[in-house]
Amino acid sequence: MHDESVLPRFRLPMTPEDFLQRYWQRASLFMPGSASGLEHPDADTLAGLTLEPEVESRLIEGAGNGPWNLRQGPFEAGDFASLGERDWTLLVQSVDHYLTETSLLLDDFDFLPGWRIEDIMISYAAEGGSVGPHFDQYDVFLIQASGRRHWQLGPLCDDETPQRSDTPLKMLADMPVIEEHIAEPGDVLYLPPGVAHHGVALDSDCVTWSVGFRAPDYRDLLAEMVAESLADVGPALYQDPGRTPTIDAGHLQPAELKGMLERAFDLLNREAAASAVCRWLSTPRQSGLDFLIEAEQIRAADPDTALVRHGGARLICLDNLIWINGEPWPLNPDQKPLASLLARKRRYQHDELAAVLTEGGRALLNDWIDQGYFAEL
Ligand code: SIN
Ligand code: CO
Repeated sequence: MHDESVLPRFRLPMTPEDFLQRYWQRASLFMPGSASGLEHPDADTLAGLTLEPEVESRLIEGAGNGPWNLRQGPFEAGDFASLGERDWTLLVQSVDHYLTETSLLLDDFDFLPGWRIEDIMISYAAEGGSVGPHFDQYDVFLIQASGRRHWQLGPLCDDETPQRSDTPLKMLADMPVIEEHIAEPGDVLYLPPGVAHHGVALDSDCVTWSVGFRAPDYRDLLAEMVAESLADVGPALYQDPGRTPTIDAGHLQPAELKGMLERAFDLLNREAAASAVCRWLSTPRQSGLDFLIEAEQIRAADPDTALVRHGGARLICLDNLIWINGEPWPLNPDQKPLASLLARKRRYQHDELAAVLTEGGRALLNDWIDQGYFAEL
């Protein structure tokens, strides 16, 4: 039954210390009955999202040895009419960015820093539906919301692991099965990066939420650091007045090379580089702020909530700044407790807000409400 008045929840079956020490980035873990409140969004809501041009979605048809067919969204309502009874999956990315009530699940992952979270993808599958055997590059918690899914886990893979070349999907050529689970509603499977897995829907109406994590690639970070460092720098041309005559015109002198490297590296500005990292980490995967918050549903589930963060807002506090969706906001000392509270969680009660809401804080919050980052309930 679709109970509007329940929010999604996840609880680790052990202390966060134990989980982080034994499993995080190291080993898979099946956690029966660790999640609840996953009735919403339903299939129609998910399908509706995929009609929106800004929403990233995929429709995968196929099973076993194929053939496999991949279509990218946005879709039209008619696209779903032609689907058969079996063997297809609709995957909708970043649902938390669009449906704020879905994003509230992420508060239960606060044993990890918020900047490490990417998004919640939700898949809706007919019986037999699957994306094939594969591995992901990022940590993921696969949460069964409705129906059952048969999970098979394989070995640790990397870019050298043979892939099938006859499908448009990244699919392993072969996956020896090491472990198997039947996930029922509320069961959660954690997978570190690289673990081969294959999940097949055992029922129609099989819905799986994937809480996916983000890990910056240092190559991207360095590119961003360089771009940010050079943003306000004019031309910096090599110059060599006062040279002595060259002895061998075919050689680059080691001292010349050293000088050039030093001058070029000197352009990398640490402050700008740090800003580039914060901008990258605080930029959401998609901009979801145009989607309205379903205040009624959140209020019904938790009447004490006075303010909620939009699922499309991403916040990071560092020193005297709070970064919101890639933009830095300077904070006065009296605004810092409010900023910390807003960055730490996604829904806020009257009392906890009252404890940190100074006059300066109120002014900032009003600005952020105007920009759509927060809504009063
Ligand atoms: C799915 O939800 O169908 C697939 C998720 C995954 O295997 O990563
Ligand atoms: Co996967």
